[in-house]
Amino acid sequence: MSFDRKIKIAPSILSADFANFGQEIQAIEAQGADWVHVDVMDGHFVPNLTFGPQAVKAFRPHVKTVMDVHLMISPVDAYIDAYADAGADVLTAHIEAGPHIHRTLQAIRAAGMKAGVALNPGTPAEAVAHLLDLTDLICVMTVNPGFGGQKFIDMTTKVRQLRQMIGDRPVHIEIDGGVDPKTAPLVVEAGADVLVAGSAVFKGGSVTAPEVYGENMRLIRAAAEGHWV
Ligand code: DX5
Ligand code: ZN
Repeated sequence: MSFDRKIKIAPSILSADFANFGQEIQAIEAQGADWVHVDVMDGHFVPNLTFGPQAVKAFRPHVKTVMDVHLMISPVDAYIDAYADAGADVLTAHIEAGPHIHRTLQAIRAAGMKAGVALNPGTPAEAVAHLLDLTDLICVMTVNPGFGGQKFIDMTTKVRQLRQMIGDRPVHIEIDGGVDPKTAPLVVEAGADVLVAGSAVFKGGSVTAPEVYGENMRLIRAAAEGHWV
């Protein structure tokens, strides 16, 4: 996985058919997804439960692009090896999930993965000031984590600040929550390059009508790249 700043669309399979993850992943990739975003929730750090390392490992053979695993769990450290074994390319932990995010990011890299740090809407950009050389991706939450389909919270000021703090380091800024063709250009203009989208990608489509996923992604990408269609 090499670093590039092109816009990347990362559909969140939280909005996929939970009885059919393999085909859903294949469908979004065939329709142009750049990364696959996997939302892990523990019913404790966030008020919802999704899947654990065993399920994520089962997704792996279907993912030909980048498996981007977003941990909304606390504690994190005890599970890092399990997600490395499951085949995560990027493993993102929340800064709010515990007192030792510095150690967590080191451990994620030591386990052979790209290290991401996620910030809830209430957490300021300054919180990552001493983590910039330990991280490959900063995930700016534009909803309070836990559920898909929520309303976008404007965090463009934070994104702008982060892009300035990052300078010329090879660090992605990912936006997660409420991304659609209307909100995507705002965050890209502010400096984001990875756009997670759940409901805006999956709405109206299915594995038997995957071209809808393709059209939904095309609309987000076109808007993000500044040309409306
Ligand atoms: C929220 C998750 C998101 C979510 C995005 O806790 O981290 O990845 O699935 O869903 P949409 O795009 O529907 O807001
Ligand atoms: Zn997510």
